[in-house]
Amino acid sequence: MNTIDWKNLPFGYFKTDYNVRCYYKNGQWGPLEVSESEMITMHMAATCLHYGQEAFEGMKAFTGADGKVRIFRMVENAKRMQRSAHGVMMAEVPIPLFEEAVLKAVKLNLKYVPPYGEGASLYIRPLLIGTGGEVGVKPAKEYMFMVFVGPVGPYFKEGFNPVKMQIVRDYDRAAPLGTGTIKVGGNYAASLLAGERAHHDGFSSCLFLDAREKKYIDEAGPANFFGIKGETYITPDSTSILPSITNKSLCELAVEMGMKVERRHIPVEELSEFDEAGACGTAAVISPICQIHDRDTNKIYQYCKDGKAGPVCTKLYERLKGIQQGLLPDTHGWNTMVE
Ligand code: PLP
Ligand code: COI
Repeated sequence: MNTIDWKNLPFGYFKTDYNVRCYYKNGQWGPLEVSESEMITMHMAATCLHYGQEAFEGMKAFTGADGKVRIFRMVENAKRMQRSAHGVMMAEVPIPLFEEAVLKAVKLNLKYVPPYGEGASLYIRPLLIGTGGEVGVKPAKEYMFMVFVGPVGPYFKEGFNPVKMQIVRDYDRAAPLGTGTIKVGGNYAASLLAGERAHHDGFSSCLFLDAREKKYIDEAGPANFFGIKGETYITPDSTSILPSITNKSLCELAVEMGMKVERRHIPVEELSEFDEAGACGTAAVISPICQIHDRDTNKIYQYCKDGKAGPVCTKLYERLKGIQQGLLPDTHGWNTMVE
C-alpha cells in the first residue's frame, strides 16, 4: 500500500478497499451497502446489458496544501446524473443519497487519496444501471447505483503539456437530438472507433464536428473544447455535447479574470483565428491543444508555438487547481470538505 508511485499513476482502474452500492426495487431506493467486491452479479436480461440503460459520472477529490481532502462540485454531478437517468428512463438517484454514497466511498478509501503535490487525485466514479430483466424494449423496474474510487494521474499522458487532436467527419458520437448532453455509455461506445483511430494516427483524441452539418466544432473526445481569442473565451453551443462542469467553472473564472465568455457555434475555419485552444473536463482538467489536424482537408491549426501552454490556459489552470487544492479561496462554494 505504501508503495503507490503517485507521480506516475496513469488514468486507469486502480483497486481500492471498498465501494458502496444501493438498490432500487418496488419503486424505492434501499439502504447504502458497503462492499469489498469488485464484481457485480445481475440478471442476464438486465436492461443495462441489452438496451443501454446505463449512466455514469466522474468527479475528483484532492488533498489540499493544508492536508484536507476536498471534492469538487459534487452536487453538479448529482444533478447531471439525474438528467442522465431521466434521459434513458432510469430511476433517479436522490441528491442526498448521491452525496452520502460519494462521501462514504471517499472516506472508506481515504488512504488512496493522493497526497498534495504529487500531480494526482482520487477519481470518483458513480454508476447507475438498469438491473431488472426485460426482453421487450422498455425501462427496467430495478436499478443499481454504485460508487467506486481510485487514484489517477492525468487523462492524457502529456498532463498539462499540449496535446494534438484530429478532426473527424466520418463518425458522430451523438445525434443532434440524441443522448450527447447526458452521460450515458452509448455515447462512449459510439466514440471508440474514431478515438482509437486518432490514437493510432498519433493524436491524443479526436475532435467531433456537429452531426447535422459538419460545420462546427462539437465535442473534444471525452472533454469540451474551448478557444481563446484575445480577451474572449469561446466554447461550443451544441445540443450534442455534455454540459461540462469543468467548462462551466472555467467560464466563471474567465469572467473573474476580466474576459468575455461566448457560448456559440464555432465554425471549423475559426480555428485559425484562436490564440490558444484547449480541452477541458474532470479527467482532462485543462489539456492545452498544440495542434489540430483536419484529416479530410489536411489543414493543420497550430497553437503554443514554443511547445508550451499559452498564458490564458495556464492562468485558468492555475486558478482552477488553486481552488481545488485550497490554495485560493473557494468563493463559489465549489468544494465539499471530507471531514
Ligand atoms: N465531455 C465528455 C464527453 C465527457 O465525458 C466529459 C467528462 O465528464 C466532459 C465533457 C467533461 O465534463 P466534466 O467537466 O463535467 O467532467
Ligand atoms: C471525466 O472527465 O470524468 C470523464 O468521464 C472522461 C472519461 C474518463 C469518460
